[in-house]
Amino acid sequence: MLVIFGITGDLTARLLFPALYNLVHDKFVPDQIAVAGFALGDITEQQLRDELAQSLRRQFGQQADNHLIERLASRVHFVASDFESAAGWQQLHEVLAQIDRDHKTGGNYLFYLATAPEFFLPVVQRLAREGLFQTGKGQWRRVIIEKPFGHDLESAHELSRELLKVARQDQIYLIDHYLGKETVQNIMVFRFANGIFEPIWNRRYVDHVQITVAESIGVEHRGRYYDHTGALRDMIPNHLAQLLALTAMEPPSSFSAMALQNEQVKVLESVPPLDPEECEWCAVRGQYANGKIAGQAVTGYREEKYVDPQSKTETYVALKFMVDTWRWAGVPFYLRTGKRMSKRYTEIAIRFRNPPLTLFRRSGATLPQPNHLVIAVQPQEHILLEFEGKVPGPVLETRKVNMTFDYRDYFGVANRTGYETLLYDAMIGDASLFKRADMIEAGWAMVQPILDAWAENRGGELNLYPAGSEGPEAAENLLHHDHRSWRPL
Ligand code: BG6
Repeated sequence: MLVIFGITGDLTARLLFPALYNLVHDKFVPDQIAVAGFALGDITEQQLRDELAQSLRRQFGQQADNHLIERLASRVHFVASDFESAAGWQQLHEVLAQIDRDHKTGGNYLFYLATAPEFFLPVVQRLAREGLFQTGKGQWRRVIIEKPFGHDLESAHELSRELLKVARQDQIYLIDHYLGKETVQNIMVFRFANGIFEPIWNRRYVDHVQITVAESIGVEHRGRYYDHTGALRDMIPNHLAQLLALTAMEPPSSFSAMALQNEQVKVLESVPPLDPEECEWCAVRGQYANGKIAGQAVTGYREEKYVDPQSKTETYVALKFMVDTWRWAGVPFYLRTGKRMSKRYTEIAIRFRNPPLTLFRRSGATLPQPNHLVIAVQPQEHILLEFEGKVPGPVLETRKVNMTFDYRDYFGVANRTGYETLLYDAMIGDASLFKRADMIEAGWAMVQPILDAWAENRGGELNLYPAGSEGPEAAENLLHHDHRSWRPL
């Protein structure tokens, strides 16, 4: 049984319920799955059911299986209460017992904290006090916690210590929704199921790596959260650190959760902390001003709803990290992410070293272009190898050509949310696509020197960039300083 705290929020309607629908539809999860929801809200159980059903119909359109939607919606039970009310918890016990009886769910509960972060710890502590982590023979009880996990290294460490006082490590599933993306999971398959890439996946052949997560959306209705968070906290210790870990990790000894997580922690812990002087030029921050996206005028960040009109919060960061391992010593990893950029685009680009000698010239004065291997995560889903080819004709001239694998060509396009695998794995007890607390802390450790420098007003200016651009000029300088440049979006 799935027990969602904060069921009335956006996450359930937009992602969790559609994911559950897909899982039942594809028969990964038995039809008798039931959902219990706990949230403060002045809606009735029937209204919640109707809203969730409507939202499924909207999302799946003509392909929607109406019988399945009705069945799923009828299995939603709702406790309308705040998380501190004794009566609310009493009602939850009754609902759980009733579902166990009616749907034969066997006392197996997956708790999902789709709440604001301040409730993570109190709800988990309360679950423990209510005896809801205790299991009988053959039973399981697990809890999924969404991000943000802490707001800096110390708070993440503290949260993890407190959680472990009341639940076992193997009961805590920390989610990073990037690990639910097929293209992200495929990085491991690409690297470790193929023999041809791994031998060149190191400092001898790789010049540097660029990881880009560009968004064209602004802060939308999340100004209140975002203005206290900023792009660095919102994206780097979790999603971009995750992409870096998968790109740079050593091959694990097996595909078990522990082996995978151990290797990812190791690589993140090998990122040397930036010293405060480095923060001046290794960390660039920007904030979007007015501009145009797809021809439409959009307002600057400071004019967004719930944002301080004087806000100094960054909506863009570009960073340079090193990874001090034998494999990567001397190879920079450049990371950038921003809101209101010219388009939505996420990629990992591995830039290979030039050949030792330049035998061929291009016509004109340009040299052959370096080789890139590009893993495009979204919205395009492909892997692309860029290399030089001969232009037909009597003059020996070369030009950049591409070899592409596109997901659509082989696997079609599925109407997936990215939460299917994560929910399913948590139900079967496979934590390999979840984070361990030490991994999250290693992500925070990477950015902590920058947070400290910025808190003391050191570490470079906040650069404004027009909405719809590729970010601030200063980000270009970060790479020019190393005689390199960003790939155009
Ligand atoms: C979330 C951030 O974790 O990830 C958001 O809080 C961001 O600010 C989102 O927009 C990006 O996710 P995706 O899947 O759209 O790349």
